[in-house]
Amino acid sequence: MGSESFLKDVSLAPGAPEEEPARQYYYMALLSDLVSQRAKEIGRDLTACVVTFGCQMNARDSEKLCGILKKTGFVLSEDENSDFVIYNTCTVRDNADQKVYGRLGVLGNYKKKNPGMKIALCGCMTQEASAVEKIKASYPFVDLVFGTHNLYEFAELVYKCFSKKGMLVEVWEGTDRIVEDLPVDRKYPFKSGINIMFGCNNFCSYCIVPYVRGRERSREPKEILREIEQLVADGVVEIMLLGQNVNSYGKNLENGITFAQLLREVEKIEGLHRIRFMTSHPKDLSDELICVMKESKKICRHLHLPLQAGSDRVLKTMNRCYTKEQYLALVEKIRKEIPDISITTDIIVGFPGETREDVKETIDVIRKAQYDNAFTFIYSKRTGTPAAKMEQVPEDQVHEEFDEVLKCVQDMARERIVRFEGRVMEALVEEENTGKNAADALREMGAKEGEILLTGRLSNNTIVHFPGNASQIGTFVNVRLDKCHGFYYFGHIVTEQNA
Ligand code: SAH
Ligand code: SF4
Ligand code: F3S
Repeated sequence: MGSESFLKDVSLAPGAPEEEPARQYYYMALLSDLVSQRAKEIGRDLTACVVTFGCQMNARDSEKLCGILKKTGFVLSEDENSDFVIYNTCTVRDNADQKVYGRLGVLGNYKKKNPGMKIALCGCMTQEASAVEKIKASYPFVDLVFGTHNLYEFAELVYKCFSKKGMLVEVWEGTDRIVEDLPVDRKYPFKSGINIMFGCNNFCSYCIVPYVRGRERSREPKEILREIEQLVADGVVEIMLLGQNVNSYGKNLENGITFAQLLREVEKIEGLHRIRFMTSHPKDLSDELICVMKESKKICRHLHLPLQAGSDRVLKTMNRCYTKEQYLALVEKIRKEIPDISITTDIIVGFPGETREDVKETIDVIRKAQYDNAFTFIYSKRTGTPAAKMEQVPEDQVHEEFDEVLKCVQDMARERIVRFEGRVMEALVEEENTGKNAADALREMGAKEGEILLTGRLSNNTIVHFPGNASQIGTFVNVRLDKCHGFYYFGHIVTEQNA
């Protein structure tokens, strides 16, 4: 459906409807008129650039923002020197905040040269009162600030922002509302993230997410299934079910569906080839889920299972609700049932009170759990969380331990990934690799004249590069994994099924 026919059906006569999403379609129609009028005045299309910081949740939210921008006539651009720039922010660690502030300075300079430019900030950072105060005081050229709970009001907020001067700030403390059926513009035509729940109730003591994303709310299974069916009809072959703790999916729903039961339903959708999900909290990972994964032909052989720390004392203060032993027993059970699975994790180093001995426990878990990959973070103090009030470890004492953990993780990952060398595996071709070493890589692979370097993803989430052609993007191919290069493979497409 083009934007024209889609918005012409919206009646503007009686004023803005109260109910959602009708209200947002009303504002989309108004905004669309405003955008085309501005475009006439300046003699060209209005450009908009959405910059995403943070996690998959934010990436999906940005696709919703892009959907509305496109429907209302903006031309999407990657260039931050655009007529409308939206920063979808993250605040999980302090360096995420600092990145945004740094880039806002640059945006301010662009705006001096293009006074008609509008700048919006949304996402997790704007849910913090201190951040909003700082923006008001130090970045007065920002036009619109809104939060995670009212993202669905984007059309209304943009319309209001473009119709007035000065900064519009609209941040809610929380919501129990989920608004369905708004436009989305996907980054990839063939794969998509899909929210199954919002918020988090776990309150790990270091983490700001429950404060900025609110209480846990699951979407109705029928809404999720309907959205996936629509995506599949639109060409999507791989989906990623998104939630801060997918294993507690359904707890607030009346029919009490579990995550494993939801997966069984998703599995039945014809035309869908791959199912991924993020993130699994170890405390809630059920035997039922392991069983569903084991039996499934579609659920990918990858599990992201954040450990955070290996010491029982630290895990307790972090409020993670499992011990080292329980975590390792879980990993063992999963590996026994699904031997070819890749397990990845998140680790924090330098949590308040963490000693050298504690870090040794983390390293012990890394060795025993045999991770295929791990994201390692230095603890960052987040004001308002319980850990912020605990005695902090000075950062200069953390670096040595961080490097040690990182080295252990990287050695382990290199050792693990090599196990597939020589195998033939199915890859979903995601994009052309246009990196500066692409030509050398093609030569090394003995590519034929005219072939380009493609990047594919295996079921276990490993990346493989191989020669091919652009028409293969978005399709599944069988690839022989010829050579392991640290964290990825070089390979070539083969026609046979298995080595
Ligand atoms: N809901 C997910 C993680 C969301 S945040 C889960 O529970 O696994 C992603 C990762 O950021 C976390 O797993 C954690 O390792 C890291 N993280 C969160 N808060 C942090 C902090 N204050 N300092 C450093 N790392 C942090
Ligand atoms: Fe943060 Fe813990 Fe919730 Fe994950 S489960 S988002 S780490 S509070
Ligand atoms: Fe960051 Fe918010 Fe995600 S704080 S990690 S963008 S939920």
